[in-house]
Order: sequence, then C-alpha cells, then structure tokens
Amino acid sequence: MMEIKKIAVLGAGQMGNGIAHVCAQAGYEVKMRDIEQKFVDNGITTIKKNLDRGVSKGKMTQDEADAILGRIKGVLDLKDAVKDADLVIEAIPEIVKLKLDTWKEVDGAAPKHTILASNTSSISITQMAAVTKRPDKFIGMHFFNPVPVMGLVEIIRGQATADATVKAIEDVSHKVGKKTVIVNEAPGFAVNRLLVPALIEAVFAIQEGVATVEDMDLAIKLGLNWPMGPLTLLDFVGLDTALYISDYFVDEFKDSKYRAPALLRKMVRAGWLGRKSGRGFYDYSGEEPKPMRF
Ligand SMILES: NC(=O)c1ccc[n+]([C@@H]2O[C@H](COP(=O)([O-])OP(=O)(O)OC[C@H]3O[C@@H](n4cnc5c(N)ncnc54)[C@H](O)[C@@H]3O)[C@@H](O)[C@H]2O)c1
Repeated sequence: MMEIKKIAVLGAGQMGNGIAHVCAQAGYEVKMRDIEQKFVDNGITTIKKNLDRGVSKGKMTQDEADAILGRIKGVLDLKDAVKDADLVIEAIPEIVKLKLDTWKEVDGAAPKHTILASNTSSISITQMAAVTKRPDKFIGMHFFNPVPVMGLVEIIRGQATADATVKAIEDVSHKVGKKTVIVNEAPGFAVNRLLVPALIEAVFAIQEGVATVEDMDLAIKLGLNWPMGPLTLLDFVGLDTALYISDYFVDEFKDSKYRAPALLRKMVRAGWLGRKSGRGFYDYSGEEPKPMRF
C-alpha cells in the first residue's frame, strides 16, 4: 500500500481547519488552501486557539503544539497545494458546480498516484469521481463537527472506488484518531440517514402542538440520552441546512416520507436559521437561549 505523507486540505473553514489540525497532529505534512488570505488566516487562528486550549488543559506541551502548527502551511494557489500531495481532502462549500470544477482542476494538477477525498455531506461521490480521470482513487471521507472532538469518519465508496483506496483512507482515518465505518454511496450515508428524519420529525411534533420546544428537547435529551435535544441541535446545524438535506432526500429517494414540515420552511423563509442568525427554535438575543412559542 502506498504510504501517505503529504496531505492537501481544500477549504480552511469550519471543517477544513479541523481536518488540517488532526492531520498535522498525526504527523502529516499539510497544505491548507483557501481562496483568500483572510480565510486562510482565520483557519490558522482557529487551529492555534484549539491547540492553545490543549496546552492549557495539559493534553500536550507548547513544543508539541508548535510542531503541529509548523506542519501546516496555508496557501492560496491550488496547484501549489496539490502538486506534491499524496492525498487531497476537499472541504469547500456544498455547491455542486464548485465541487465539480475544483475536482477537474485538482485532477489535472495532482500527481497520478494521489487519492482524492471529499468531505461532502450530500453530493454524490460517483458524480464527482466521474469528472476526474481516476474514479478508482476517488472516495468520500466524511468528518463530523467539531473535527478534533468527534470520533467518527464515514468512508463512502463511489461506484468505481477501488479497495486499495478504501484501505488507504481507513489507515489515514485511524492515524488521525478516528473510528471508521464504510458506507456504500446513498443519500445521507449512515449518520444523516437517521439524524435528519429524526430532527424533521421533532419539527412536525412542534408544528402539531405535541409539546413545547423545551419539553421536546428535555424529553429526547433525558429519554434517549442525547447530549442535547433535537431543536437545540437543529439550531446548531442551521435550519436552512436541515431543510436543504430534507428536500435533497425527497429528490433523491423520490419518497415523500422525507418531506419537511411547513413550519421549517416558513422559519427558513423568515431568516430564522438557528444560532447563526440569532433565532431559530430558541431566541439567542439574551443571556440564556429562550424557547420560542409556536
Ligand atoms: N459544517 C458541518 O457540520 C459539516 C459536517 C460534515 C461535512 N461538511 C461538509 O464540509 C464541507 C465544508 O463545509 P464547512 O462547514 O467547513 O463550510 P465553511 O463555509 O465553513 O468553509 C468552506 C471554506 O471553503 C472556502 N472555499 C470556497 N471555495 C474554495 C475553493 N475553490 N478552494 C478552497 N477553498 C474554497 C471558503 O472560503 C470557506 O472558507 C461541505 O461540503 C459540507 O457539506 C460540513
């Protein structure tokens, strides 16, 4: 099996900087690419903050943290990022055309042996692989947010993904400290296949007046031992993202059982997107989140 030493991470946002962090921490040389210097800088600042927290909690020494940061180079040029990479992990925005254009360019600029992995939450791995000349070396590598904390990588096989590619990605995932599951490409993979319908059902229950927002959250938190209730979680995920995935499931499965409740669509249209907009199922304008009434 080819040994992976150098990794290019595309995107320095929420997921990209977390992926760069865990890869560098595992000893890989990392180039992290974004399209503007300020995005690269923000990504590096976040990694530094998270490393500092590790140092102050006694999880690593300052020297170790410095060495990890020293293995991450922020870059703007795509060719520079991928030209000597053994693995490219892409975490750019969830927009089909942007991903397809980027993968075409990466395929032309990366060495022949390089494995191409996408952190997409929903876009077809097979569709992205098909724009490259190496669909056997194309795979899904789905991390969870926040990357340094969450313990799982879902590995997604596209139609043409080779066994050797799966093995190489299993190996990297384990080296960065994650457990893996291997999923054949399907909408939502394994985790979101279950999670999104569950979150959507919680909104149906609110819409029907089954319980208040805070009681629904408390019921699921204590009754199912979830770390937080579904409506609190929806506010974290973003109501627009949940609606997007729900609509996507309906399109892909051609099954109306995945449909979103009218309340969710109405809230998104009102700009009530959750924490990022200051209001969703809770109002975040005060000291404490205040449950909304529906
Ligand atoms: N946020 C999550 O919880 C989560 C979880 C798993 C997977 N994902 C997936 O990860 C991907 C990224 O999501 P995110 O939440 O990190 O988004 P984000 O908006 O925080 O970050 C995306 C970054 O990519 C940059 N970018 C845009 N075009 C680029 C290009 N051509 N090359 C390099 N960088 C480019 C943007 O400037 C931005 O900094 C998406 O596919 C998303 O579906 C997100």
